[in-house]
Amino acid sequence: MIKSTDGTPMQIKKIRLISFSPTRTSKKVIDAIASAMADIPCETNDLTYPDAVSELHVGADELAIIGVPVYGGRVAPLAVQRLAALQGSKGPAVIVVTYGNRDFEDALIELRDIAVKANFLPLAAGTFIGEHSYSGAEMPIAADRPDNADLATATTFGSQILEKLLALQDWPGADSLKVPGNIPYKAAAGKMPFTPLVLQSVCTECGACLPACPTGAISLASGIQIDQNLCIFCCACLKTCPEDALQIAAEPIKQKVQWLHENCAERKEPGLYL
Ligand SMILES: Cc1cc2nc3c(=O)[nH]c(=O)nc-3n(C[C@H](O)[C@H](O)[C@H](O)COP(=O)(O)O)c2cc1C
Repeated sequence: MIKSTDGTPMQIKKIRLISFSPTRTSKKVIDAIASAMADIPCETNDLTYPDAVSELHVGADELAIIGVPVYGGRVAPLAVQRLAALQGSKGPAVIVVTYGNRDFEDALIELRDIAVKANFLPLAAGTFIGEHSYSGAEMPIAADRPDNADLATATTFGSQILEKLLALQDWPGADSLKVPGNIPYKAAAGKMPFTPLVLQSVCTECGACLPACPTGAISLASGIQIDQNLCIFCCACLKTCPEDALQIAAEPIKQKVQWLHENCAERKEPGLYL
């Protein structure tokens, strides 16, 4: 348990690391934030995979750190669905969105609203940069982010959150944390009618991509098959394949990749809201 400056117990007995993170950048960021709070017991609730829990109660004496990716300037739709499992108890939450160096637009404010609706009190918020899901060797976009500098910022952010918690005399109001973004949010992008292309001649059928898929869209029968109805084009399979047997081949996405590569090369930095 941590104690406030006047010695009053703040009742934080546990940290809950809650993420939806197909290509693992959001997870890396919240892990680095929590590394600054190593004295407090920590439980990980990864909502990325199809076996994600459908109900997750978080006690008033727990600090929830919630990390999700930005898709189309909003919280990734499947993250919204999986976060519906969350039931807070008016305890504090740290909300974090990770984006691929283009923009996070209305994702942070959307995540704040999701947290408030789930009965959390948002205490701090962060925007971090992760390697873009569409980034590859030929068209890198924010390659290798979060890098050491980002992770150091995340750890410092964790220390600042701890300081804020320790100095609090009372829990923050549900609407006390101001974050950038618009209400109403920008319109959600529709589901893309594509899947990555499997180069069957390159694929060794090792099966590494199957457990990486957040929707269970990939099967291995006569070669790797991807169910287009389930695929969210998160690119976790591409990033997991040891043979580069999965590729972005759909023309509209290839054009987007080129645009991102050319127009989002300038390094953006994390944003911290406390
Ligand atoms: C369908 C889709 C939409 C995306 N939209 C955005 C976006 O609007 N802005 C941006 O900067 N990055 C965007 N990205 C990139 C991800 O936000 C970024 O790669 C993030 O780090 C992925 O998080 P994860 O590793 O936790 O899955 C998008 C990625 C995908 C797959």
